[in-house]
Amino acid sequence: MWVFAVCLTALLVKLGHWIYTQTNRKSCNGKLPPGSTGFPIIGETIEFFSPYSLHDIPPFVRKRMARYGSLFRTNFVGRNVVVSTDPEVNRFIFQQEGTSFLLSYTESFTEIFGQQSLVSCHGMVHKYLKNLILQLVGPENLKGKLMYEINEATRRHLGSWARHGTVDIKEVTSELTVDLLGIIKDILEERKKSTTPHQDFLNLILEEVRKEDKILNEAIAVDLIFLLLFATHETTSSAMTLLIKFISDHPEVLAELVKEHETILRSRDNDDGEITWQEYKSMTFTHMVINETVRLANIVPGIFRKALKDVEVKGYTIPAGWTVMVVPSVLHLSPTEYDDPLAFNPWRWKGKDLHAGSKTFMAFGGGVRLCVGADVAKLLMASFLHYLITKYRWTVTKGGDIIRKPGLVFPNGLYIKISEK
Ligand code: HEM
Repeated sequence: MWVFAVCLTALLVKLGHWIYTQTNRKSCNGKLPPGSTGFPIIGETIEFFSPYSLHDIPPFVRKRMARYGSLFRTNFVGRNVVVSTDPEVNRFIFQQEGTSFLLSYTESFTEIFGQQSLVSCHGMVHKYLKNLILQLVGPENLKGKLMYEINEATRRHLGSWARHGTVDIKEVTSELTVDLLGIIKDILEERKKSTTPHQDFLNLILEEVRKEDKILNEAIAVDLIFLLLFATHETTSSAMTLLIKFISDHPEVLAELVKEHETILRSRDNDDGEITWQEYKSMTFTHMVINETVRLANIVPGIFRKALKDVEVKGYTIPAGWTVMVVPSVLHLSPTEYDDPLAFNPWRWKGKDLHAGSKTFMAFGGGVRLCVGADVAKLLMASFLHYLITKYRWTVTKGGDIIRKPGLVFPNGLYIKISEK
């Protein structure tokens, strides 16, 4: 009897799969990219979420690239997905934001950040909100109050770590990043009460909230702050943790960093002074280290878009409504794009533009959705490195295992012993 039940179940699963695949085929007018939509309902979800190592592209993607090429179809978490690992197609996808593709993450994502947050807005509203955020965290405005706040918070947190003696870097950098955007919230509250005129982002937000024909209402302003907090928290603390891991594994890199930061100290009148904008801009090797860290870190494992209409690429059709996933790690770890791609080698960035994205360097995304916080993240990392290297002694004591699921996970932390010099 049970044999019959097993056979019947297997038959039903096969049949379900066939109907499912046929339905998908019929909904497309052209030729779908090669690939498989996996099992009914669950598709290829289980394999997609299988853990893998830090220095690897997702085996899920590697296996299918070998079988189908740089563009293939799959299905996970209930979505039909076309995966692109082709630099030209990626660029096309980023360029077509708003016309053929639209940023698209899960519904829970939208619920968390609010229906009208930056990631749920498109077109003119997106542009407007992004400009507002750039008034706060874009390069021009980092020079002022935010740079001062970042320096202050970094020094305060490092001092507290040293008093503890041993800390888990992932945990404490997470606290540091939360503290930083808490600062923004506090400034917003303070400013609401203030009668003194200010010319900055928060003033703009508050003025917009007060306007009659406003796009921005108080709820959107709160969503914006929350999104910034969230976007900073996970990404930047992971980057800082990996930064520590990479430089402690590579003493030659640490030695070069020490040279750069001690030169800065020597040229200062006040040994205990804060980093100035000019000093920050002079940290060329530090920026090379930061770029190399985010290249290997691949903090954002996939960038998601939704096709607004049937889109033709490379002889295939991406049907309207399908999700498209760009996988930056495939290019960041490609031997064709980077010599010895798994090596942590900041010198590979020598002479290159350190602040631009490209079709082979997408750590901060691309196109109109390029990360709005890239500059603030880099300033955070540079400030962290400066005070850590010049004022403290530290060694990694335990932890340091890192896996991807596909997001970065630090199962046993990364502990350092730290004391003042
Ligand atoms: C190392 C740190 C960071 C990494 C690797 C990173 C990476 C990215 C990537 C890849 C995107 C593009 C997503 C897409 O196209 O779908 C993005 C977007 C975004 N990032 Fe970051 N990010 C970092 C830090 C930050 C920080 C510090 C902030 C906040 C100040 C921030 C705020 C945002 C926002 C608001 C967006 C959405 C932009 C838009 O939709 O136009 N990020 N980030």
